[in-house]
Amino acid sequence: MNGFVMTLNRHLVEQERLYPHATGAFTSLLSDIALAAKVISLHVNKAGLLPILGATDTQNVFGEIQQKLDVFANDAMIRSLAFGGHVCVMASEENEDLIPVPDEYPKGKYICCFDPLDGSSNIDANVSIGTIFSIFRRTTPEDQPVSLEKDVLQPGYSQVCAGYVIYGSSTMLVYTTGAGVYGFTLDPSYGSFILSHPKIKIPSKGKIYSVNEGNFNLWDEGVQNYIRWVKTPEANNGKPMTSRYIGSLVSDFHRNLLKGGIFLYPADKKNKNGKLRLMYEANPLAFIVTQAGGKASDGFNRILDIQPRELHQRTPLIIGSKEDVEIAEEFIQGKRTH
Ligand code: AHG
Ligand code: MN
Ligand code: MN
Repeated sequence: MNGFVMTLNRHLVEQERLYPHATGAFTSLLSDIALAAKVISLHVNKAGLLPILGATDTQNVFGEIQQKLDVFANDAMIRSLAFGGHVCVMASEENEDLIPVPDEYPKGKYICCFDPLDGSSNIDANVSIGTIFSIFRRTTPEDQPVSLEKDVLQPGYSQVCAGYVIYGSSTMLVYTTGAGVYGFTLDPSYGSFILSHPKIKIPSKGKIYSVNEGNFNLWDEGVQNYIRWVKTPEANNGKPMTSRYIGSLVSDFHRNLLKGGIFLYPADKKNKNGKLRLMYEANPLAFIVTQAGGKASDGFNRILDIQPRELHQRTPLIIGSKEDVEIAEEFIQGKRTH
């Protein structure tokens, strides 16, 4: 069709038509997330102008100082999802407990776990940040109370959808429902997400490695050996790999997804399970990278196979191009040293 533009809504409707029994609830749920993303995007863009910057005096459940924009983004996600009526409960990196849907709203059959603002230490420096989300279908009957164990703490392979929004030089929404990875760029003049990256595939071997190397002395020998190896000519067709680290997981992941490479946040002497959270960060990105042909591991197991035990569980994360992750696993498991 001449001049036809595939917006996120059109794309979702098209996908929905593939399933004759679809009720439209899922399409509507993703639209609720897209709406929150637009609201957050606008505020992120204004962050330098509005008196919104700087730390609040409250700490989140991890004892980290919350940035005001974290609180704003969290509220935007909670409000949009609750009003939409398609979730029965929510979980956010910023809330210690599950977030119930207020009584005045209907409850749906989905559960959404999210990191409302990822990379928040970068806000004040005008560096790209993001929002990450993960969706499960409820497993318990709707007339019973929602169960933390059965409904929320589902392994990553049970996700029905995962995605992220990156607030970068442009705002993009990238998502998967298990039928490929699609990226949409926000057109600020129309306020619509436009399909710009259909069927994203990650190269099977990349040139980029992303890790906070300041932690080198705190890592296990396996990780140290791997990072020594990426600097050798063997690692990249006669050249060392290239180091890129933004410090916003969404941004580091997004770049590596498009260009190929590996991101690592391994365990270290201080953080025995690494830093990143399974339910809000590792699981959704693992679903996306797997759909794009890549891999996500904790060094020993697939991220998507981990059975979560608690809401705010952390996990080491090694994610990116399939070959790169497999080589890193060999080093971490002690199968090779150089
Ligand atoms: P958040 O802002 O949601 O707390 O996440 C920050 C995370 C992640 O975005 C990034 O990959 C990592 O922290 C960076 O950690 P270091 O500063 O320890 O490298
Ligand atoms: Mn985060
Ligand atoms: Mn966060």
